[in-house]
Amino acid sequence: MLNFDPEKLKKDFPIFNQEINGRPLIYLDNGATTQKPNQVINEIRRYNETSHGNPHRGAHQLSIRATEEYDNAKEKVKSFINAKSIEEIIFTRNTTESLNLIAYSYGMEFIKENDEIVIAISEHHSNIIPWQKVAKDKNAILKYMYLDEEGRIPIDEIESKITSKTKLVSIAHMSNVLGTIHPIREIIERAHELGAVVVVDGAQSTPHIKVDVQDLNADFYVFSGHKMLAPMGIGVLYGKKELLENMPPFLTGGDMIEYVYEQDATFAPLPFKFEAGTQNVEGAIGLGAAIDYLQSVGLNEIEKYEKFLVEYALNKILDIPYVNIQGPKDLSMRGGIISFTIDDVHPHDISTILDSYGVAVRAGHHCAQPLMRYLELPATARASFYLYNTKEDIDQFIEGIKNVRKWLGYGS
Ligand SMILES: Cc1ncc(COP(=O)(O)O)c(C=O)c1O
Repeated sequence: MLNFDPEKLKKDFPIFNQEINGRPLIYLDNGATTQKPNQVINEIRRYNETSHGNPHRGAHQLSIRATEEYDNAKEKVKSFINAKSIEEIIFTRNTTESLNLIAYSYGMEFIKENDEIVIAISEHHSNIIPWQKVAKDKNAILKYMYLDEEGRIPIDEIESKITSKTKLVSIAHMSNVLGTIHPIREIIERAHELGAVVVVDGAQSTPHIKVDVQDLNADFYVFSGHKMLAPMGIGVLYGKKELLENMPPFLTGGDMIEYVYEQDATFAPLPFKFEAGTQNVEGAIGLGAAIDYLQSVGLNEIEKYEKFLVEYALNKILDIPYVNIQGPKDLSMRGGIISFTIDDVHPHDISTILDSYGVAVRAGHHCAQPLMRYLELPATARASFYLYNTKEDIDQFIEGIKNVRKWLGYGS
């Protein structure tokens, strides 16, 4: 039994008060970005109407209010992922910027010639390109863990790739293409035994499953607000304090300093050392409101519900002979993402035809070209679910899928 009513909850999201192509909007592109409830929209509005100022910069009331609200949002993030203190929470623009910050600051400082960086073949480009850059600039080696036929990283792959030469492992908690939940606990344990640090790309996991960075013992954990009901332009970098303290600043300028002299400067304490320039205060406040909303439903409930939706959808899809599914069959190893192809149909055509049924799915390489090459697929279509999707959404999605080949002139 669920403790929330998805139909009722959907009413919190004003975007669903519309039809697309004469059908109710069915939004199944949550892996790309999510929609906002009134609770988030109204909170951003309230801040702009009552408290907007530049934080940490003034003694007047609006600056003080903006500072308090910004810091309060950071407290919420800290509790949400169970970090030890707000010194370990850096606001960035998104997952991509968080990963770049780690690569440029930690990577360029601590990775040396012939050191090995290990990632998985399924990574998003945001978790590949920064490490390619570090490997090239430092003459280090970028190694890949490959997947089995169901999109999982086998244990022997973890053991053979993460070795005493490994200095850093960077891995998505959940694949944005396959939906696989990777065994990051085992990866972190193995890496730590061998003295390597672990970066976890939580872009697809943080919105959907309970994340506890201390329990996981992750060294860095990163995610984006816009994939968890918050606005675009706000992201998070969690890092262990002892690591962040030894890292040089990434961006420099206002706010991240302590004293500035003509030729030199000293830097502000954590977390401000990594937050140069005027920050996205309304984004932070929106993220705080999104966290309140998600916590009022409960992350464990959300995870349970999404598993139900995936199972419901998979049972129906697997009955359709010309649809092929990527990723693990074992539901305990996957989240609310289904990547699929339809025989003889390009995924872009699938997406366009589903759109005419009011159903939004993503099609393409999903910013994971090395994975697509590894799977020998040019592209896939992807349905990704969230707490406001319902069984009826999936029924409409399946109805659309069953009509795709007919639209293109095939008999069935
Ligand atoms: C696994 C993963 N990592 C990183 C990103 C990049 O996120 P952003 O574009 O918010 O920086 C995404 C976005 O889809 C993702 O799915």
